[in-house]
Amino acid sequence: MLNIRNLLLAALIPAALWSQTQPIPRIVQKDGRYALFVDGAPYLILGAQVHNSSGWPAMLPKVWPAIETIGANTVEIPVYWEQLEPQPGVFDYSVVDTLLSEAREHRVRLVLLWFGTWKNGSSHYMPLWMKTGPDRYPRVLGAKGRLVDSPSPYSRATLDADTRAFVALMRHLKEADQERTVIMVQVENEPGTWGSVRDYSPAAQKLFDAPVPADLLKALHKEAGAANANWQAVFGSDAEEFFHAWSVAHFIQQVAAAGKAEYPLPLYVNAALRDPMNPSRGTYESGGATDNVIPIWKAAAPAIDLLAPDIYLDDSARYFKVLDLYRRPDNALFVPETGNSPAYARYFFAALGRGTIGFSPFGVDYTGYANAPLGAPKINEESLAQFSLNYKLAGPMMRDLARLSFEGKLHAVAEEEQTHTQTMDLGPWKAAVSYGVPSFGFGNNPPGNPQPEGRVLVADLGDNRFLVTGLFSRIDFQASDPAQQREFLRVEEGTYENGAFTPIRIWNGDQTDYGLNFAASPVILRVTLGTF
Ligand code: DGJ
Repeated sequence: MLNIRNLLLAALIPAALWSQTQPIPRIVQKDGRYALFVDGAPYLILGAQVHNSSGWPAMLPKVWPAIETIGANTVEIPVYWEQLEPQPGVFDYSVVDTLLSEAREHRVRLVLLWFGTWKNGSSHYMPLWMKTGPDRYPRVLGAKGRLVDSPSPYSRATLDADTRAFVALMRHLKEADQERTVIMVQVENEPGTWGSVRDYSPAAQKLFDAPVPADLLKALHKEAGAANANWQAVFGSDAEEFFHAWSVAHFIQQVAAAGKAEYPLPLYVNAALRDPMNPSRGTYESGGATDNVIPIWKAAAPAIDLLAPDIYLDDSARYFKVLDLYRRPDNALFVPETGNSPAYARYFFAALGRGTIGFSPFGVDYTGYANAPLGAPKINEESLAQFSLNYKLAGPMMRDLARLSFEGKLHAVAEEEQTHTQTMDLGPWKAAVSYGVPSFGFGNNPPGNPQPEGRVLVADLGDNRFLVTGLFSRIDFQASDPAQQREFLRVEEGTYENGAFTPIRIWNGDQTDYGLNFAASPVILRVTLGTF
């Protein structure tokens, strides 16, 4: 990032030494919580992903204004295999270099999306020289003998080609990005297969009938009686799906491990989801990192740092369930894609409350495309406004939020459709959140907002002090000990700049007598509580 300190340092330190001073981003785990470390400290991805065909230099003038509107600190943008390797073994880094230099100019970091062998389960981003050689780079064969529009994970030639290209990309980043503009790389995009649970080609069938790899049995604690047993015998009705998940993950592991050996950036795989409440086989992409096969992916692809859900579910119960399914002791939560219609904005807080390392609405650019009904019908300042509010609030205190989250001190909630009150457990305190009440008066029986858009965040600063912020909501506190009554000792409104809170006024009277009310503008409070 360009700032005065970096500029001064850059002027003083020769390039070779400079590169040593910038630690490579990494995912760190402590006490079951995760942080993405960037420049040596926890970093929160306030992300925005561009549309699929917006990663071309000619499109960037229509990307940056939308990024500015939303206030993202990180842009997720594709790197296309068909562009990177126009001839076998010949690499064109010009587009990647443009992304790097323009991102630096616009003072944002990048998450690069490797559109390689898989893009949404198909192989549409393979270079032309591969598309015209389908025998060498085969597709999945369906159960009835018909080809499926999805690459086979058993092709050595495809694996070698993808590995070579991904290695070339990572090697180039290592050389061209000593500033660590790129903080993470997504390997493939929603890998897996639509339209067939697995590959039924003879090569695949042979492996399906062979013993399940011992490492996988061990990882799943299934060794007892399963040695030398084949997939069907070990996994029964799950066998075909688990086999495909293992095969896709095993392929990607090899690509990822080779890339990581060049340049060890954090790597992740994104998943097209199955319904988190009522999954029904055949309705979702098979072989991807759906919630039921996370342990298989973990065992097969240790070079992948995390598995990340693409969440396009617009009801809060299912949204929260997905967050809970991917927030695991063995998996850092990250939302690399979510719907860009305004109702999704509040889920940023739901993800923060569960320790996410980042959040990114999909389709943030002004190229004129819109993926409605998944997202908003038109992308403009108005459609992005709710997301902009999020990042206006979180941007100035991003580093503190990331650190507090890593320390387990962050609590945040988003409004549900049917329930209009929520409680946050803060140890000696409980926070009562309500939605839809006016700013004046006790507000019994909160009706909820006309559209669920409320959100609240509380960061525990210790000694009964809290940073409190929110939108379209009210929060109040009670001592967990019912014999004690809470008193607002001090409620300061302030601004946050460069990690420091500067008070601008004290709230009291109507502003605190009925709890702390947040409307449509970003307000940050520092609250000190006492009891009587
Ligand atoms: C999920 C994919 O990962 C994205 O690239 C995009 O195709 C969206 N679905 C739909 O717009």
